[in-house]
Amino acid sequence: MEEILKKIKEENLKVPKHVAIIMDGNGRWAKKRNMPRKYGHVQGSKTVEQIIEDGYNMGIEYITVYAFSTENWKRSEDEVGALMKLLQNYLIDCIERSTKNNMCVRVIGDKTGLADSIVKKINELEEITKNATGLKFTIAINYGGRDEIRRAVTKIAHEVAEKRLLPDDITEDLVNDYLDTAGLPDPDLLIRTSGEMRLSNYLPWQLAYTEFYFTDVLWPDFTKEDLLSAIRYYNGRERRFGGV
Ligand code: FPP
Repeated sequence: MEEILKKIKEENLKVPKHVAIIMDGNGRWAKKRNMPRKYGHVQGSKTVEQIIEDGYNMGIEYITVYAFSTENWKRSEDEVGALMKLLQNYLIDCIERSTKNNMCVRVIGDKTGLADSIVKKINELEEITKNATGLKFTIAINYGGRDEIRRAVTKIAHEVAEKRLLPDDITEDLVNDYLDTAGLPDPDLLIRTSGEMRLSNYLPWQLAYTEFYFTDVLWPDFTKEDLLSAIRYYNGRERRFGGV
């Protein structure tokens, strides 16, 4: 880590405040080793733990990862079961370590589609860590960007129908407040591993001005050096938000 921090300083790199990640390539990583896909997810969850620690030490304040999409239910029962088990264990470990690591954890996505046992752990973890001042770590589970917008629109429509809001009150800021990500700054940088160049329904509203970094590295192989490469790429870009 010393080495990386030295490079950030020497190269005068601006570290993005909020990094969103699509952790892709777990299945291919396992296939290359003749192992079942779920083994790739196990390895991928270890990478998550390492990268959030490294990212925070590098100065990133918010990290948001795509752990399970609304489309992922179409995978085999075995793989879905393994992913849910992995997520549940991660949430339990996080609760146990919460006093030590000072991380504020939040889950975005449609919780109504998740098993009660997972929702219980999510609520517990969010409650315990809500005032933590360290990394703000957000996990997207049963998340789909269009579904998030649809749910927000439904809530706003109810407010209007019950006359608590007027149609002209609906500003971009108001929409932000009804999204799962309410209160989070928009991501500055999106990283997608494993060579795919798609958004896959991940944070379409929030990523409107974000820089995108794609790498061929498969998620289980992603390291702090790869994160540094992404930050270097981010620094080569000038962000103008549509101005000149
Ligand atoms: C995409 O790889 C990855 C996923 C669908 C799941 C991501 C989940 C984890 C990394 C583990 C759990 C997360 C946490 C926060 C503990 P893929 O399976 O689509 O890979 P492929 O494209 O090679 O098939």
